[in-house]
Amino acid sequence: MYGENQLKLKVIKMYNWDDPINEALNKPEEVKAPPIKEDKAVDLSQIEPTTQTDVQEGYTGMENLEKGAGRIQVDDKAIINCRADLNQLVPFKYDWAWQKYLDGSANHWMPEEVPMHDDIKLWQDPKGLTEDERKIVEVNLGFFSTADSLVANNLVLAVYKHITNPECRQYLLRQAFEEAIHTHAYTYCVQSLGLDESKIFNMYREIPAVATKAEWALPFTQSLGDPNFRTGTPENNQRLLRDLIAFYVVFEGIFFYVGFTQILSMGRRNKLTGVAQQFQYILRDESMHMNFGIDVINQIKLENPELWSEQFQSEMIDLVKTGVELETRYAYDTMPKPILGMNANLFEEYIKFIANRRFVQIGLPEQYPGAKNPFEWMSEIMDLKKEKNFFETRVTEYKVGGQLKF
Ligand SMILES: [Fe+2]
Ligand SMILES: [Fe+2]
Repeated sequence: MYGENQLKLKVIKMYNWDDPINEALNKPEEVKAPPIKEDKAVDLSQIEPTTQTDVQEGYTGMENLEKGAGRIQVDDKAIINCRADLNQLVPFKYDWAWQKYLDGSANHWMPEEVPMHDDIKLWQDPKGLTEDERKIVEVNLGFFSTADSLVANNLVLAVYKHITNPECRQYLLRQAFEEAIHTHAYTYCVQSLGLDESKIFNMYREIPAVATKAEWALPFTQSLGDPNFRTGTPENNQRLLRDLIAFYVVFEGIFFYVGFTQILSMGRRNKLTGVAQQFQYILRDESMHMNFGIDVINQIKLENPELWSEQFQSEMIDLVKTGVELETRYAYDTMPKPILGMNANLFEEYIKFIANRRFVQIGLPEQYPGAKNPFEWMSEIMDLKKEKNFFETRVTEYKVGGQLKF
């Protein structure tokens, strides 16, 4: 009938999930860890310890444990090339990073929560939307659905390793999950509207306006992902800083704004309100990602002022300006004629206005004097503080959802 092992399993008492405290208090006897049998014990002396030359200049968090080492002090911590244990979150040095982790977590949302019924009805109605409007939705879903995977891969496979601070890494892990939610949201929109998935997901290879932006970003992540790349020299530290500016300031801080504005303006006109709401939640997350990146960039500058040379500054100005050109091209390619009360000229102005703000945020002079914001309503949508009640409601909802019984 039953083997010996199966019989043993049958007499193990089930854990009481509903009343774990009583369960613990009434435990009949102390359970001791069984001794490790001689032949099964791991002989630690046989395992070759990793030598310090195998690891990069800064720590990764995967080094051998330094037993009995002095306690970590706040001053031991640094954003790059840090020599303090990276598995120890506290004491905090960069409160802003921890705070952004808390804020991001408090604003958690999932794509399925957004009702999509009206969008499906409108999309299926042959007279529901114009051809130009449909095209704008498809191209943007095409760009964003792959762009967020690109950002996530850059974070996990390239940036994370070189940022040697636990509270920043804590936020990077939160950001990486949010990027997964964004890719989920775009896929959810594509599936809800019944769009041609292979057409949408291949746009970043096939449509020039979409392809050029991804193509521009790839070399930056590739250089950090190079297994031989190490920070620790002025040249390589600059390379990391440049790549952070490329991703956080240009990719997340400029490349998303034409598409977001186009889709959100549809929502303002009561068209595809579900898709627009998904984009609105994503935009809030993205503005926090960008602000985190800018804090990281400025902190690296503060801790390593020699990196911010005149020459490097002028290279960074050119880098952001190239981003402006590519995003402007995206605006013209996706809006060959006026639509939704907007046209490509307005976007050209808007991109310059945004770029000016990005320059100032990282301590560079504005490059487009007098550029105005033609889409004031976008700032209101992005302002998290104004929408505080919205998030407070959601947090309460999540607490209710959290009372699950296992
Ligand atoms: Fe994202
Ligand atoms: Fe992002």
